Formats: sequence, structure tokens, C-alpha cells
Amino acid sequence: MTGSPQLRPLGETLGAEALGIDLSQPLDDATFAWIERAFAENPVLVFRNQQLGAAEIAAFGRRFGTPRQHALIKYRHREYPEVSWLTNVEEDGKVDWYGVKRATDWHTDSTYEEEAPLLAMLYALEVPSSKGGTMFADMRAAYDTLPDSMKQRLAGLTGLHGRTDGPVGEKLYGNNKGQTEKEYYEQPRPAVTHHPVTGRPILFVNPMHTHGFVGMDRKEAWPLIEELAAHATQERFVYYHPWQVGDLLIWDERATMHRGAGDYAPQERRVMLRTIVSEMAGAAQHVAEDRVGLRAPAGFEILTHRGAVDAAALGQ
Ligand SMILES: [Fe+2]
Repeated sequence: MTGSPQLRPLGETLGAEALGIDLSQPLDDATFAWIERAFAENPVLVFRNQQLGAAEIAAFGRRFGTPRQHALIKYRHREYPEVSWLTNVEEDGKVDWYGVKRATDWHTDSTYEEEAPLLAMLYALEVPSSKGGTMFADMRAAYDTLPDSMKQRLAGLTGLHGRTDGPVGEKLYGNNKGQTEKEYYEQPRPAVTHHPVTGRPILFVNPMHTHGFVGMDRKEAWPLIEELAAHATQERFVYYHPWQVGDLLIWDERATMHRGAGDYAPQERRVMLRTIVSEMAGAAQHVAEDRVGLRAPAGFEILTHRGAVDAAALGQ
């Protein structure tokens, strides 16, 4: 590192650029500590003009936790399977229409996995000539601005997360949720969480994977999930990141939702590498404990067994 890194804001509520850091080189502890501090307050952090391969992205992910293999097999990097391609190009060069559509509505990644997602990183290799951005919503600001009555309602609620079976997931994918190699069990997670570093409360409900709440039937739950999503994704809470080649962007999966804007010409190439980082081993223990004693109330189906879907691969 030459000189001290600097922060430059990008958006109104979210988005900051970290200047003066070269992620192709091993990071010394002081620089990494600076990144961690900056990231705690700035849950969307961008490093420009980086020259990275899958190995460097995985190595950067390992500084934070455990980069993990994504549910979708098709898009895994062959040498570094904990890194996945986000691409709209098939191997034969044709448009990958699943890749075009993939993740173009609001979600937090992989909240259906047993281990809670911590953060994700996305690296731009090829970008369209215009648009093709990624949007991020600030779930801290979303919580802060809820009416007190809603805060009280959410305080006692536990969200139920399945793979792409919330209101938005069903609308975007239907039965075509992509090929996975394992089955997914429903994960209960509090509707409101707190950031482990800043202590700020966070709305932790996303319309892609949250399909219900403990003790609430679907007729009540889905409108609530949709209402919370509409609140959280108001323009005042959203940052649109227009990609430049060489951008490495990390986002806090606990404090944000995101989506592909889905606004570019599909014939133009959009190729990125991505990894999702989970917390260190042991962090999932409380989730397993929470599940003990979980019972479906009358008229409410708790999904305890998610079958692998053998349709063509897509999803997030
Ligand atoms: Fe995603």
C-alpha cells in the first residue's frame, strides 16, 4: 500500500469508494483492518481498477470468512468453485438468457443456506456500453424509517427463508429455479437483526427468499413481505452502481438487499466473478438451535424439505 487509503462517497445513503488499495497483492493487517472498519459503516464498498482473477477474489474473501460454493452448479468457476460466474454469455458465445434474467429482483443472497451470509464480492470483467448496473438498498435506513407500530410488530417475528420461494422469487422464476446438488431446509431468521460491529438495527426480510413468518399464515405473510420490500426499496434508500471494468465491489449481506438492474441490451456482454462469504464455522449453531421446537401453526405449511430442482440453471 502506498499512503493511507481514503474513502469517497458514491451514493446518498449507500456506496463508497476505497482509494489506494491494490487487492492483487497480499493485504497487510493494518490495511485489512482499515477495510473492515470502513465496511462496517459503508456496506457497499468499491475498489476501482483492480487486476484480479478468481484466486485473488477467493483469497480476499477468506480474509473475512469462508467463501462458499454457490447453490447453482452451472456457474461455478472450474478451478475455484467458491467463485461463480455472473454472465449473460454461454460457452458457445450465445446469449445466456437465464444469466440475463438472473437476480434481477430484490434479494439478499443465500439466506436459505444454513450458514448466514456475511458479505459478497463482485468483480467486473466485461460490462455493457451503458446501464447494466447493480442496485443496493440500505436495510438499516429502511428499518430506521419504519413506523413505530411496524417496528413493534416486527420485533417478535421470525422470518422463514427458503430457496427463491418468496413472492418475488415465485414471480421471477416460478418452477424454474435452477439445478442444485443438495436439498435446502427452511431457515428461521429474526425479522430484525443488529449489525455486529455498529449495533444498528437492520430489517432482515427479503422478498426473494423470505416466504413467511413463524405463526403467520401465507395470506397475511406475503402482503407483509411485499410491503416491507416496497418500503425498503424506495429511491431514497437505493444506490445504483454503474460498473466499470476492474471494479471489485463488496456488499454486506446483513445490511443490504440488491438486484441486477436488468436494464441493458442483452446482446452486449456482461461478465463478472462473484463469491459469497459466510461467517466462520460455528456461526450456524444458533440457527440449528432455533429450529428445535419450531412448529407449523394451523393452516401454515413449514417447508422442511426442499427438493433439488432439475430445470435449467438460474437463480441467485
Ligand atoms: Fe445476488
